[in-house]
Amino acid sequence: MSTPASLSQEIARLAKERDAVILAHYYCLPEIHDIADFVGDSLGLSQTAAKSPAQTIVFCGVHFMAETASILCPEKTVLIANPLAGCPMADMVDPKDLAEKKATLPNVPVLTYVNSSAAVKALSDVCCTSANVTAVLRSLDSRQVLMTPDRNLALYAQSLVPEKDVILWPGFCPTHHRLNLTEILELKKAHPKALVLAHPECQPKILAEADFVGSTSGIINYCNQSDRLEFIVLTESGVLYPLRQKNPDKKFYEPKTPMVCPNMKKNRLEDVVSALTTLEPVIKVPEEIRVPALKAVTRMLAIPRD
Ligand code: 13P
Ligand code: SF4
Repeated sequence: MSTPASLSQEIARLAKERDAVILAHYYCLPEIHDIADFVGDSLGLSQTAAKSPAQTIVFCGVHFMAETASILCPEKTVLIANPLAGCPMADMVDPKDLAEKKATLPNVPVLTYVNSSAAVKALSDVCCTSANVTAVLRSLDSRQVLMTPDRNLALYAQSLVPEKDVILWPGFCPTHHRLNLTEILELKKAHPKALVLAHPECQPKILAEADFVGSTSGIINYCNQSDRLEFIVLTESGVLYPLRQKNPDKKFYEPKTPMVCPNMKKNRLEDVVSALTTLEPVIKVPEEIRVPALKAVTRMLAIPRD
C-alpha cells in the first residue's frame, strides 16, 4: 500500500524525469505543500509559472490557476492535479453575460480578478489578484471601472481607491463570504490580544473588524514579521500550516465556521503521481482565447504592487 512518504518519493522521481515543477496554492492540503516546489498565492503562482524553466507544470490548485499558467506558458505542458477542482466564484461570471454587460457600458474598462475563466479574462482589459487589486485599479485612466467577479474584493478596492467609481458584479467566494459577524466579535472577545487578519474576499462588515487585510501571502508575511503573539486568521485554513510551522511560539485562532475550500482540498498526492505518470489532464487554452487573455494578464504583471 502506498504511504504519504512513498508517494512523495515517487513524485520527486517522476518530477525529475519529466522536467516538471510542482506549483501549489496555500489553500491545498499540508502534504501537497510538502511536495511542491513552490507554494504561493495567486499572484506568486502566476509569476513563478511565467519564469519557470521547467518544461512541465503540475498545478495543485483550482482550474483557473492552471489556465493562467497555460495562458502565460503556451509552449509548456500544463497539468492540473485534479481536474474536478474548480472555483465556484470563477463560475459566477460567464463570457456571454460579461459581453452583454460590456455592451451597456461603452468605454468602461473591465478589471477581472484572476479567479475567472480564460474566456472571461479574454473579454477583460486587465486582471488583478487580491495582492495587487488597488494598484491595478489606480492604474486605469477611466473613473468608472467594471470589476468582476468578486463583489467583496471590488468593495474593498473601492474603499481604498475612492477616486474611482466601481461597478460591481454579483460574485463571491462561498468559503470567505459565509463568515458571520457575531462569531468574529465573539472570537475577538475571547482573544482580546489577538490581531485580526482577513482576506478581501470576506464581506465588508468582517473586514471592518480586521487589523490587516491582505492576500494569503500578505497575511502570512504579516504574521511572520509581527512581534505580536496571537492572531485571528480569517482566510482559508490552508494558510495555518505554513504559519504554525514558521511560528511555533505564536497562536493562531480560527473562526467556528470552517474556512475550507473543498475544491483546493481535492488535490491529493495520488493525483500528482497520476498527472506526472500519464502527463494528463492537460490544460490548454485555445489561441483565440489565450492571446486576448494574455494581454489582460501581462498588463497586470507589469503593474508594481502598492
Ligand atoms: P490569493 O491567492 O490571491 O490570496 O486568493 C485567494 C483565493 O481565493 C485563491 O483562490
Ligand atoms: Fe474559489 Fe474561494 Fe476556493 Fe479561492 S477559496 S478557489 S475563490 S472557492
